[in-house]
Amino acid sequence: MSREILPLAGRQASRGAGGAGASTSLRSHSAGDLRSVHVNAQVRLAGWVHRRRDLGGLVFVDLRDRSGLVQLSFGPDWTPAAVLERASSLGQEEVVAVEGLVTERPEGLANPDLATGAVEVRVRALDVLAPAETPPVPVSIGPEDEPPSENLRLRHRFLDLRRPEMQRALRIRHETMQSVRRFLTGAGFWEIETPLLGRPTPEGARDFLVPSRVHPGSFYALPQSPQLYKQLLMIAGCDRYFQIARCLRDEDLRADRQPEFTQIDAEMSFVDEDDVFAVGEAMLAAVWEDVLGESLDTPFPRLSYDEAIDRFGSDKPDLRIPMEIVDVTEALAGSDFRIFQAATEGSERIRGLRVPGGAALSRKQLDGLTGIAQEHGAAGALWVKRGPDGFTGQFAKALDGAIEGRFAEASGAQEGDLFVAVVGRLAREARSEGEAGIEPALDALRRHLAELLDLSEGGHRWAWITDFPLFEWSEDGSRLDAVHHPFTMPDATGLAALAAHLPPDREPDREALAGIMAAAPRSRAYDAVYNGHELASGSIRIHDPGVQQAVLRALGIPVEEARARFGFLLEGLRYGAPPHGGFAFGFDRLVMLLAGLSSIRDVIAFPKTAAARGLLEGAPSEVPEGELDVLGIAVRSNQTGGQG
Ligand code: AMO
Repeated sequence: MSREILPLAGRQASRGAGGAGASTSLRSHSAGDLRSVHVNAQVRLAGWVHRRRDLGGLVFVDLRDRSGLVQLSFGPDWTPAAVLERASSLGQEEVVAVEGLVTERPEGLANPDLATGAVEVRVRALDVLAPAETPPVPVSIGPEDEPPSENLRLRHRFLDLRRPEMQRALRIRHETMQSVRRFLTGAGFWEIETPLLGRPTPEGARDFLVPSRVHPGSFYALPQSPQLYKQLLMIAGCDRYFQIARCLRDEDLRADRQPEFTQIDAEMSFVDEDDVFAVGEAMLAAVWEDVLGESLDTPFPRLSYDEAIDRFGSDKPDLRIPMEIVDVTEALAGSDFRIFQAATEGSERIRGLRVPGGAALSRKQLDGLTGIAQEHGAAGALWVKRGPDGFTGQFAKALDGAIEGRFAEASGAQEGDLFVAVVGRLAREARSEGEAGIEPALDALRRHLAELLDLSEGGHRWAWITDFPLFEWSEDGSRLDAVHHPFTMPDATGLAALAAHLPPDREPDREALAGIMAAAPRSRAYDAVYNGHELASGSIRIHDPGVQQAVLRALGIPVEEARARFGFLLEGLRYGAPPHGGFAFGFDRLVMLLAGLSSIRDVIAFPKTAAARGLLEGAPSEVPEGELDVLGIAVRSNQTGGQG
């Protein structure tokens, strides 16, 4: 590459204002840092040609570096003719270095939308450092412009990441990571790495496997989380551990899921829930302060799993929405409305939502509610509006005489409100038969109606959800699965139920399992929920080998299989394990929410598509047969799944 036009003079570094670590031999300042105080300073800048405009003999270029944009101006009165000529042919995204004088923009030409908008740099010297072909995805699009398709952006990610919004997301990611490290280090945690090549961890997703060349036919599993290693670090006496851990899970992807993602993973010895929550809350408060400059209200409210399901229909309730589920079954008893009759006489319930101001919804919007309820496993949704003359709508007829007063009181519906009801069995009863129950539909309606009517109160609403069920029946109803993971400590009820129904000499048959489930055992697991997103999970772990054995037996994991899969943890438990517990925050999700974005792909430098592809590098890819031979692997068919 030949250098063009006037090499820059005087490359002594003078301390720049800093943004992108300016002040190198090529630049004295960062473009985005220039302000009125710099007027009359000679500066050297380097960056990309963001935009160029030619105006009657003058050339204006927006120069961009990581810190922002500044306007360069080239004009016959201050720019040598050869430089002016080259400037007029500068192409988008060429890399240039310039030298010039910071000047106040002429009267009326300041740009209040740009941090550097009061000034411009009158350029005397220009050096083109690198050419650039026309970018296949535009870098200089405004916030109001339609961005290019995501696949195109991912294919040319190095260009996409140049956009200021993407740079902001990466900066927030960096600041969050540093804030977490500072906080946890200050709180006595050691940052310790754990293996990427290990054995499968039972987090419930499929493992990514890595074939061993040295041991043909054997595979490492990439970690779904450092769960077992962090427990072993507690057994090893490390007391407090954390890791910004990469986790790999072969699972179906959604907007908030990636096959490789990052966790803030932490574990502590000699703790109970209160200690873990206090650390988690203080860590988040530090992040909010450092990254957003805002203070977070702590401690966070705690809701038991049952309470969350009853009040909000979800174990990750969005507490910004001021609507709660109310039960109107008793209020509607005696109604001759057929659907309600069946419910009030049988084992179903009638639950619903009072929607403030919902009477204003259109017929079409109301007609849409049933579809939403059905998509989430309920038979449908029924509504009434309360107007000046009482109730009107789908079940107004059911509200005769005394029932109307009882319903008005139980539902809390005021004039101008809507009440949406769903009839059916509660999840806790329906689940054992493989049905959803009515809560998922109520949750979906609550979120949908809040969105339609703009009811969310905003703000940062965190909560801990506690007392999760210990086990759930597997999909085919033949065995029990752990709701969190098999290393989570049962609560006192769970311990008693295991001791009563599954003593060491008893087979874990259906009757024993049903006995355990009848006791409604809970686990000492918890989630941290933020504005309707699950951001973290954790638990107090089992540190007693006998309890661990009982839980594994209840889960139908035979001793030999347990030994083969995580014998190293079971062995560790035999040699004196401290009581311990911890959490893992989804780091990408946390950054996504801090940055106000709605896809975790936007806060990951090089994410995968929804079909788990790396479009930039072209991953996954086939490998030459010779490489497979060395690994002792033969590919049976080369069908490639998924598009994009
Ligand atoms: P869990 O599996 O719940 O718990 O994961 C903890 C948090 O990690 C985030 N997360 C994800 N983020 C992006 N993409 C994914 N595919 C993905 N999967 C999970 C979520 C989730 O809350 N070892 C336990 C934690 C513990 O018990 O300490 C664990 O990994 O925000």
